[in-house]
Parts: sequence; structure tokens; C-alpha cells
Amino acid sequence: MAKPPSSLISRRASLGLLGAGGLASGLALPSWSKILDPSASDLDLDVRRARFSILEGTQTDGLVSTRDNAPPPVMRMKRNQPFRVAVTNRLADYTSMHWHGLRLTNAMDGVPYLTQFPIAEGERFVYDLFSPDAGTFWYHPHCMTMEQMARGLTGILVVEEDEDPGVDTELALNLKDFRLNGQGGWIDLWTARGAARGGSFGTVMTTNWRVEPRYQAPTGGLVRLRIAATDTTRIYRLFLPDAEGRVIALDGHPLPQPADIPKSEQTALFLAPGQRADIVVRMPTSEGQTITLMTDAPGTPRVLAHIQATGQNLLRSVSDIVALPPNPVSEPDLTSARLEEFVFGWSPEGDLPNNGVCGTLGYTFWSINRTPWAGDAAEGTGPLATLKLGESVVLRLRNESPNAHPIHLHGLAFKPLRSNKRQVAPLWTDTVLLQKDEIVDVAFVADNLGDWAFHCHVIEHQKTGLAGFIRVVES
Ligand code: C2O
Ligand code: CU
Ligand code: CU
Repeated sequence: MAKPPSSLISRRASLGLLGAGGLASGLALPSWSKILDPSASDLDLDVRRARFSILEGTQTDGLVSTRDNAPPPVMRMKRNQPFRVAVTNRLADYTSMHWHGLRLTNAMDGVPYLTQFPIAEGERFVYDLFSPDAGTFWYHPHCMTMEQMARGLTGILVVEEDEDPGVDTELALNLKDFRLNGQGGWIDLWTARGAARGGSFGTVMTTNWRVEPRYQAPTGGLVRLRIAATDTTRIYRLFLPDAEGRVIALDGHPLPQPADIPKSEQTALFLAPGQRADIVVRMPTSEGQTITLMTDAPGTPRVLAHIQATGQNLLRSVSDIVALPPNPVSEPDLTSARLEEFVFGWSPEGDLPNNGVCGTLGYTFWSINRTPWAGDAAEGTGPLATLKLGESVVLRLRNESPNAHPIHLHGLAFKPLRSNKRQVAPLWTDTVLLQKDEIVDVAFVADNLGDWAFHCHVIEHQKTGLAGFIRVVES
């Protein structure tokens, strides 16, 4: 049975986890403490240079965040309520901000030239956000994307359910790598070799910019982990060897039935760049015991975060974990759906992309339907498909390359129908991972007007040709 909200609030307050002051010294200062702040007021994000100690005993300069000495904050808004974010650019480069997974108004989507002009140094752009869906989403730039994301500009965006889902606390875990040397200095943010293959992997794996951070959560309590894979390259293979609990949502959308937690490499949950998982764990029942979030990096499993049980036992049970209410996504009519086919692969010799002020990597390696993206600022770049408002659509996504591609569509939610390689679950998503030679059919209703970016979320692929957009027009 879900506990009444009042007891939740006092329980949270009694943990002393609400503010930094309640933490024992020596513990990682949790940047997520902010997510327990219930005030969903408007927000100013000033994109700026930041410095932070990512590797113990070193300082990394030249990070990009919206705070001087911390990662971008966890944003929290409410479903069906307008939320305004003013983004001010304090960098010498251009930027723009995109709200990954939100089915919002096209003009607020943050894609340079497609939905707005890039934000110049000193300029401000006000985003009026709105989300019909509750869940875990995230934000990142869509201009100078490679540079700014590699330097840390990715944050988790929470859209709250109408009703408190009855957990004792939450942890937002933003997973991303950095490409650093042993002194905390930068190495190349990307490489041509990586861009032409699976992407350039980071040298340091982090959670909220920290290496193997240690968090605390109530003993025997239910903790909602909001995990976002915001790395530009890495496909995480998550498992929690010692945890009890359930997966309750993927990519912002609830599972109709909560699923078992992945406990080993063999059952690991794949989380590709752009994807999210909401996992509720029941903390161990003895104070001091920990659970560990791990990823199966090729060869060796790696620790992403520890969560230690603290305080008195809240005596919660895994059977208290219930399904979240579904988001209001329209069911496509598969009998009348229009089929659109897309091939993702190598690029034929192409001209260099014209990205205007939003950054080019200087190579073309990838294509959609054998045409590399001509660039954000290119004239006359048309949509890959034009759909009519309200029409049901099936996209047949074919990967003819040996590399995996997490294919992302803005502004709409779709669901996988079938794959030529594996069983796929028909769960709403905005990003589907295509493995080598895989063909996946996905379906949706084109119920959001505008030009929606459609690209691979391995940013080196996106920025060397694997990008385009889909247009939804009034019928
Ligand atoms: Cu995470 Cu074009 O998006
Ligand atoms: Cu997006
Ligand atoms: Cu790709």
C-alpha cells in the first residue's frame, strides 16, 4: 500500500538528506539533493565554464555546466503545467538547449536553424516547456553539441507524476564519461577513427561527474533511481548485483508491469546514449549495507555508484512497488499505418557538412538513406519524410553498418513492433538502439506538428552525417 504523502515528507525530512548540511564530511556531496526540493518554479540556466574535481586530487578546468563548480542541476517540473526556463549563454561559442524526450511545442525544441537560431554569447532564449508525460527526461545542447556535451553539459529533467508514487527518496544518476588524462586534463574530445566506427569512448566513467560516488538512502526504504545515459558514445549495460526491486519505467514511460531488476551481466539492461531507466530498489535492511550500480564494460564490470543504507529500517517491501500510471500516448492504427523506410549506414563521398556556427567535426562518415546530413545551416535541406497530423506511421529502421546506433526522434513517442534479430518490447520510447545489421519497425501517431530532428545519439555519428528531420504538417 502506498503511504500517505505527509508521512513521506516527514520521513524524508527526518533522514537529514535534504540539504548538504546533513551530510557527514567526507561523503560525496550529492548534487541530487536539489531534486528533493518540491518547488517547481521557473528556472534560469546560465551556460558557462565550470571547474570540478572529477579525478581525485585533480581539478578539471574547461567543463561546461550551468553552475561554476557543479554539474547541471536536476530540473523538476510537473506534468501538464507550463514551466519556463531562461537559458543565457555565457560562453564564447554558440549554444541551444534541447529537452530530450519531451513532447513539447516544436518552437521550444532547441534545434538550431530548424526551430530557433543558435544562442550567441550574452544572449538569452526563453523556453516555455510543457509535458503531457511524467517521467525521467534530460536536457543537453543541440548546437556545439559534441564540444559542450563532452565537457559536461547534460542534465536530468524530471517530470513529476500527478500523485506521489510512494517511494521514500530518489536519486538522479547522470551517467557520462569524460576524456581526461591522469592529471584531470583533457585529451581530444573525439577522434576521426572513433567517429567512423563506434565513437570515441571516455577514459573516466562518472555518475553525476564523480567516479564511483557513494550515496546514502534509508535502510529498508524504497529508492527511485532515475538513471540517464547522457554519454556521447557509451552503451551502458547496467546491473545491480545485490539489489532487490523493480524496473518501473524506461525512456520516460512506465512499464505496464514492473520488471525484475537486472542482477548480472547476463541479464544486463542496455542503456544507449539518450536512454533512461527508472528503477525502484528496496534498500538493504541493515544499516551500513550497500547496493551497487554496475555496468558491464567490455571485459570488466565497472562500478558506477554505491548506495549505502542509513538510519532506521523503514521496513518497506518490494511488493510495495506498483506500476506507474501510463502516459497519454496515442495508439497507432497498424492496419492503416503509412510505412516509411530508413537505411542507416556509411556515407557515400559527400561534401563536408555546413553546420553554421554550431560546430562541424570536419568529416562525413554516415548517412540516412545514403544521404549524409548536409548540415544544420544548409539551405534547402528537406525533411526525410512528411507526415500528416494524426496519421499512424510505421518507420522501418535498417542498420546496414557493423556499429550500433541509438536512433532518436524528437517530439514524438514511438514503440518498437518487431526486430529481425530479437524480441522487442512494445514500450513507448524516443530512442531505439539498432544493433549491427538489425531492422526494427517502430510505430506512432504523428500527433505533434513541426520539424522533428531524427538522428543517431552517438554524437560523433550525428555530427558526421547520421542526422535529418521528419516533418509533421496539418492534414
Ligand atoms: Cu537528445 Cu536531438 O537529442
Ligand atoms: Cu531529443
Ligand atoms: Cu550511430
